[in-house]
Amino acid sequence: MRSSIERGLKHITEVGMVKLDSAEYAKRRRALMAQMSPNSIAIIPCAPVTVRNRDVEHPYRQDSDFYYLSGFDEEHACLVLIPGREHGEYVLFCQEKIKEQEIWTGRRVGPEAALEQLGCDDAFPISDIDDILPGLIEGKDRIFANLGVSPEFDRQLMQWVNHIKTQVRNGATPPHEFSALDHLLHEQRLIKSDAEIAVMQKAAEISAEAHTRAMQVVKPGMREYQLEAELMQIFMAAGSRWPAYPSIVGSGENACILHYTRNDDVIGDNELILIDAGCELDYYASDITRTFPSSGKFTDPQRKLYQLVLDAQYAAIAVTKPGNHWNQPHEAAVKVLTEGLVHYGLLEGDVDDLIENLAYRQFYMHKTGHWLGMDVHDVGEYRLEGEWRELVPGMVLTIEPGLYIAPDDDTVDPMWRGIGIRIEDDVVVTKDGCTILSRDVVKEIADIEALMSA
Ligand code: GLY
Ligand code: MN
Ligand code: MN
Repeated sequence: MRSSIERGLKHITEVGMVKLDSAEYAKRRRALMAQMSPNSIAIIPCAPVTVRNRDVEHPYRQDSDFYYLSGFDEEHACLVLIPGREHGEYVLFCQEKIKEQEIWTGRRVGPEAALEQLGCDDAFPISDIDDILPGLIEGKDRIFANLGVSPEFDRQLMQWVNHIKTQVRNGATPPHEFSALDHLLHEQRLIKSDAEIAVMQKAAEISAEAHTRAMQVVKPGMREYQLEAELMQIFMAAGSRWPAYPSIVGSGENACILHYTRNDDVIGDNELILIDAGCELDYYASDITRTFPSSGKFTDPQRKLYQLVLDAQYAAIAVTKPGNHWNQPHEAAVKVLTEGLVHYGLLEGDVDDLIENLAYRQFYMHKTGHWLGMDVHDVGEYRLEGEWRELVPGMVLTIEPGLYIAPDDDTVDPMWRGIGIRIEDDVVVTKDGCTILSRDVVKEIADIEALMSA
């Protein structure tokens, strides 16, 4: 029986609740098993529980591969796929339902209910895994697993296989091959289904609203983390439990620190504020950056460099389409940025030479994007057989050019120093080009200034 408080809150949580249905997970498992070689087994462990400090754990976040195949978010679990197994192909090990433990650590599905709730064919207590799993591995030719990620899992896997090896004189056959599961699974995860894109669209909409809110409420004198609180308020009120990564709220020179997360400085007058923040929704990330002036109006040097980054972003988006390769958006952005840096006197020389010599890296030291999905820097290869891979519909990526002029860079006019700008959108490659999922938050100078003065 749920408490009246829980019942009262239910409609609020359901407003933003987004969940993929079980058919989507079943389809993924089938697609993965169709790629596995005959007589093989795939073993996917859950994420470990990690300690923050004495008696306090980090919030638990399921491993993306595990969740992608199961939609199951409990700790202490292991998922096994055995294509062609007569008694069922999908086997789950999970925590038993033990009332005394659930009182302390929360409700569990348990092996019995897992069959119906999660659609598995067989479910066992995780405490029995050492007794049961070697029997499932025995006789298989090949194990698919992500090795080298968790030393603890690698050790366990070897223990299960070695256990079979001790039984060879009794007729047991240990597997002879180990294959990287990520090779298959991550290529599958790279291409998003319509259902996945719908969730990512929703995540981007929530994050866009949060960025809009930050522009509306900022005032010089606030601490950066007070602006972060505004983002979190929108994320959670809209149904996202966590941000997809620690939010970056960098004012003034802090915007030049790419992974700035201290967020504890006081926001000054006429500074740029760079916010890189996105919510996570049903395990899908959004990843948006906007840069805007603390006082609501760009100064002249800020305006010039901002427009340059925006032009670079438009150039990159324009070439984000099927048939073009992964690096083309980056190349387009670098060209616009380098031309602009020469135009404004931050670099000197021939544009092609400066690109060839990577001279722009003094001010632009990261790539123009990355795959986006369940992980903010999502899985999937960027090169195939040594060449940048082609973009195809269903890929989701970020387009995020920037410029960062170090505060102590005495090779440039002082008016440019300490300016940090990044503009980042989430885009999905479509049949004819791309769609910007994060389009709801403004980025044109006039639109930002109008929003902030309203
Ligand atoms: N927020 C991480 C990134 O933009 O890549
Ligand atoms: Mn990004
Ligand atoms: Mn980002």
